[in-house]
Order: sequence, then C-alpha cells, then structure tokens
Amino acid sequence: MLAGRRIVLGVTGGIAAYKAVEVCRRLVDAGAHVVPVLTEGATRFVGATTFSALASEPAKTSLFDDADPIPHTRLGRTADLIVVAPATARLLAAYRMGYSDDLLTATLIATRAPVVVAPAMHTEMWEHPAVRDNLAVLRERGVHVVAPGEGRLAGGDIGAGRLAEPAAIVAAAEAALRGPGRDLAGLTVLVTAGGTREPIDPVRFLGNRSSGKQGHAIADEAAARGAGVVLVTAADRASAPGVERIDVETAAEMEAAVLARADGADVVIMAAAVADFRPKAPAGHKLKKADGVPLVDLEPTPDILSELGRRKRAGQTLVGFAAETSDVVAHAAGKLAGKGADLVVANDVSEPGAGFGHDTNRVVIVSHRGVEHDGALVDKRTVARTVLDAVAEHRRAAGAAPAKPLHETEPEPTAT
Ligand code: C5P
Repeated sequence: MLAGRRIVLGVTGGIAAYKAVEVCRRLVDAGAHVVPVLTEGATRFVGATTFSALASEPAKTSLFDDADPIPHTRLGRTADLIVVAPATARLLAAYRMGYSDDLLTATLIATRAPVVVAPAMHTEMWEHPAVRDNLAVLRERGVHVVAPGEGRLAGGDIGAGRLAEPAAIVAAAEAALRGPGRDLAGLTVLVTAGGTREPIDPVRFLGNRSSGKQGHAIADEAAARGAGVVLVTAADRASAPGVERIDVETAAEMEAAVLARADGADVVIMAAAVADFRPKAPAGHKLKKADGVPLVDLEPTPDILSELGRRKRAGQTLVGFAAETSDVVAHAAGKLAGKGADLVVANDVSEPGAGFGHDTNRVVIVSHRGVEHDGALVDKRTVARTVLDAVAEHRRAAGAAPAKPLHETEPEPTAT
C-alpha cells in the first residue's frame, strides 16, 4: 500500500518530534517516497539533517525557497498522503481554521490528498475543549486522527496525550491510502453498542463503563464502506447520517431490537457491553433512604449473542466482543466456541489506554482458525476498520489459508 506513494511527513514542535524520525524510517522502509516538512518549532527538537538523511528528499522548513517559489502547492498537489506526527494543538487549530502561515499548514490547505494527524500534547491541552472541537471538525472533514495514548509525557508527567506508537501511525497511513472503498456494499450489518442500564428503581440503575465509542466507530465505518447499517445502541452519542439507529436502554430492549433485525442481517457485530445481571423486580417508585438499605435480588439477563449463535443462518457472520482482564486469547477462544460466533474481538480492559471510555483500543481477533489479528494500541476507528477487514476476509475465505495457530501467539511488546 505504501510502496511508491508520495508522502509528505509533517513534523511539528513537540518533544514527540523525535518519534517522527522512526515514522519516517518505517515509511521509507515500506517503499514510500517521503518528503519531510518541519515547522520551525520541530527544528528546535530534531534537526532537519536527521530527516534529510533518512527521507527520500531533503527536509523542507520554509515557504520561501529560491529554487521552488511555491513549494506548498507543489507538495500539496503531488502528495498521495500527508501525515502530521506529532501534531501540536497549534497545528490542529491552524489547520482547522485554514490559517496557513508556514509551509506545513500551507501544504495542508493546498492538498486534496488524504491527511492523517497524530496529535501529541500535555493532558491539559489534549482535554481542552478548543482542541476537542478542532479535532471534531477535522474528523468531520475526513481527516484521519490517530488518537494519542497514555504514558510518559515531557517533563516527567504521566497522562493522556502521548503520541501514538510509530507502528500505529504507519498503519493509519496505510488505511488512509486504502480509502474507505465500498467493499461492504450490498451487505446489511447489524451492530450493537454501549452499556445497557438495568433499572433498580425509576432513578437508579446497574450499569457498566462502556462508552459505546467502539460500536459506534464500527457502525460509522461499515456505513462508509457501503453497508446498510442498523445500530442498536445504549450509548448517548452521535452516529453517521447513513446509519439506521435504534436507541435502547436495557438488555431486554436490546435483545428485542436485535432479534427483530438479525434475520435480515448478513453480519451481526455484538460490540455492546450487555449487562449479565439485572434486578429481578425493579421498584416502581424511588427507593427511600429512610426505608433502609434495600436488598436487590438479581437475575441473569438473556445472552443475546448465544441466542444469535443458535439462530445463525447460513451465510451470516456473527462477531462477539470479549472484555477481559487476563488470558485474553484463551477467554476469547472459549467465547467463540461457547457462543457460536465466527469471530471474537477481545481486549484487555485493564491495559492502559485500551477498552472502556478510551479513544484507543488494542484488540486480538480470534476465529476458529486461530488468531487473525493481534494489533497495536490504535484509535477506535482504526480498530473498526480492522474488525470489518476481518469480517470481509472471513466471508471471502471461509476456511482458506490457516491463520496463526493459537499457541504461536506472542503478546505485542508493551510500549514504554
Ligand atoms: O459472556 P460475556 O458477557 O463476556 O460475552 C461478551 C459478548 O457477549 C459481547 O459480544 C456481548 O455483546 C455479548 N453479550 C450478549 N448478551 C449478554 C451478555 C453479553 O449478547 N447478556
């Protein structure tokens, strides 16, 4: 995917600029023609010479170049892809506003090529509404965002905002070059998302930490790839305009909505965190503190995935999720067999930056053939692409070449 492609690698002035050297090297190793464009701030962290030595062309740092009077339009027009890593808060703001006062921002405005940005900044900045807003607008415009992870930041601080790993940035570059495609056109994909809420009384419920981000990302991505998408969601978050959405609250409501639509679905992806237990007899009125501590009797909820497994019709692909805190692959394999799913997407929710509430996730995808995918920590949209790639591949291959057997899997090295 990267071989022979012209990639402008934008580098801005954050301490993570040193990691852009590794991104540059990986892109070049994959056969890409890489043109580094450094902001003035970037050159304070890493010398242009370092990039010039590794890249396909000398690093560029200025809008004003005697040999090339309009470098930004030339770069913007000839690029197949622009990757900005790290992207500072300033870069995101300038790009969002079209404020093109240096070579990198001018090139971003002068291109029609896909753009990947990998933000990196201190946690306070990353969580600031201005940065969030800018990213939301950029995402809406189709910019690919490689969300930062959590870890060590400049000055010894620890928190969210750490540049994604170079491997994840390169994976996002490949995905951006591949484009959404329409490989799921003609398929109906039913996706569940969010955590169900099981009422104790009219104001209280038993819930879980699921944000629905992963399920919604899968629904949006499936729609972008041409599928007809039905999203049954317990999450209060937006979904793409083409997605038919059914809002539910409890496991019972989710079960009813899913079973009503499952027959017509070619692919069912149970990304929701469905409660396993619910209060047996929710009170009809608010339980009063003065009446003492209530004893809430619980009963199991219906296992929707297992029911789908029992009803699965020929040609239907069933995908379950497994949120685990240990032995991820073994539990996923058990779930696959136990629930009659074709694929199980498993993650270790105790791992920093993965699972509930985060913008990033690290998943292992298991099928009856073994481990199909064992990936890095990446943003949830990239995970969505990977899950749908695995679904498409499963439907295409149906038992073709064996994947990596379960016993040969090794955990990804953890980032430091
Ligand atoms: O058994 P466990 O809850 O760990 O399995 C997780 C998978 O099963 C997820 O895909 C989830 O959506 C699904 N599930 C379900 N109904 C339940 C509980 C889980 O469909 N009651």
